[in-house]
Amino acid sequence: MNDPNQVALDALLQAVRLAPENIALADHLAKTLLQMSRAEEAAQVYRDALHHHPGNTQLQLGLADSYRRANRLSHALAILETLVAEKNPPAEALLLHARVLHGQGETRSAINQYKDAIDADPDLSDPAFESLLGLNFESESDESAQRTPASWLEDVDESGFDQQDIDDESFADLETPSIKFDDVGGMTDVKEDIRVKIIYPLQHAEMFAAYGKKVGGGILMYGPPGCGKTMLARATAGEIDAGFLSVGISDVLDMWVGNSEKNLHNLFQQARRNRPCVVFFDEVDALGASRSDMRRSSGRHLINQFLSELDGVETDNDGVLFLAATNAPWHLDSAFRRPGRFDRIIFVPPPDAEARIEIFKLALAGKPTEKINLEKLAAKTVDFSGADLSSVVDTAVETKLKEAVKTGLPKPITTGDLMSAVKSCRASTGEWFSTARNHALYSNEGGAYDPILDYLKIKR
Ligand SMILES: Nc1ncnc2c1ncn2[C@@H]1O[C@H](COP(=O)(O)OP(=O)(O)O)[C@@H](O)[C@H]1O
Ligand SMILES: [Mg+2]
Repeated sequence: MNDPNQVALDALLQAVRLAPENIALADHLAKTLLQMSRAEEAAQVYRDALHHHPGNTQLQLGLADSYRRANRLSHALAILETLVAEKNPPAEALLLHARVLHGQGETRSAINQYKDAIDADPDLSDPAFESLLGLNFESESDESAQRTPASWLEDVDESGFDQQDIDDESFADLETPSIKFDDVGGMTDVKEDIRVKIIYPLQHAEMFAAYGKKVGGGILMYGPPGCGKTMLARATAGEIDAGFLSVGISDVLDMWVGNSEKNLHNLFQQARRNRPCVVFFDEVDALGASRSDMRRSSGRHLINQFLSELDGVETDNDGVLFLAATNAPWHLDSAFRRPGRFDRIIFVPPPDAEARIEIFKLALAGKPTEKINLEKLAAKTVDFSGADLSSVVDTAVETKLKEAVKTGLPKPITTGDLMSAVKSCRASTGEWFSTARNHALYSNEGGAYDPILDYLKIKR
């Protein structure tokens, strides 16, 4: 309680509360917090101060640095990119930008930016950072050591440069999806589950901590193909402005074949560097299935490593949300379903009538149509997947286009056009249900597949 640091901090907090517009005071408080590794709080102090002094460079730099230390690199980047785009960017901004780029594995851009920084202010040169960038002046010959760092940097050979490092650092493409929950039709229960289970804990971390509620674990979606699992995962990232990493499990297996467990670790690290970030494992069953195929040591090893990354044993997964999808949950090893892993398993059924109407509306948005009888269409498309419904609309559009080209008269799409398209398409979910039905009837451990039986209206 009487920790002298804490006493000093309390005094500073008090001072800032009394003089919220004092930039130097806020900066001092935030820097003290940063020294105590309390980067999130420092960021808050800077945000509050920026509220009083929008656009203040010193505060923006402080905020960017706090984000960087809190490992919220994309937030830091958002600020720095604006600062370095200015006409005469401050050297500190260039240096900080270089550090963030390096943190994201973009070594080459980091080097360029670092070079600009010390060109602008040679005093900023940082030997420790240089060696992180692979620029070891000490080990160079006398001749090159005498050159200024900036001119040395010009000699970096683009092609020969540390390619290995760059490949390792960015294993998958980080997307920033723009679609949101509203762009996905239906799936009301799944959306709600995602909100409660993983979005709220991310947005209200302090609240969860206050109640001692442990956060963690992911959501596994299963169901027939084409019903929006992948789309919803992407929309989850869009919904909260998070990054999105989509990982096909076959990619993970390739890594195993390539004997490169380091890559698997780097993938998780990439997500952690970019928090908040949604990591989506598609066809996750492939991993479970392979586990029984290759019971022997190394396959098991990979899966165990995967699971421990998921558990965040060595590094914490705060701000990283895990979603997974499978069409074949019965192949998935039960180890995945333990608490803290994919402990929430959700059936994603084909869209119900209401959802079908929504999906039709979404698919028709922006297209020339007459007033469409959506209820009638929904009634004729029982068991259609979301993908089936989109292809109904595509078919109608194509027919209409052909006509328009022939006659030179563009006409709006009608309910009749869509009804004929429905007749030429068929529901694709039947096949999946015929397999699922057997699993649900004969290996329904703990009632895991009850939702499938309910959907098929089989009594249990
Ligand atoms: N609920 C939905 N709302 C809107 N479009 C959907 C929906 N479900 C599926 N679609 C359409 O079908 C396509 C395939 O869906 P996808 O998310 O890949 O299905 P899954 O991952 O379940 O196999 C989507 O890109 C989208 O065009
Ligand atoms: Mg999918």
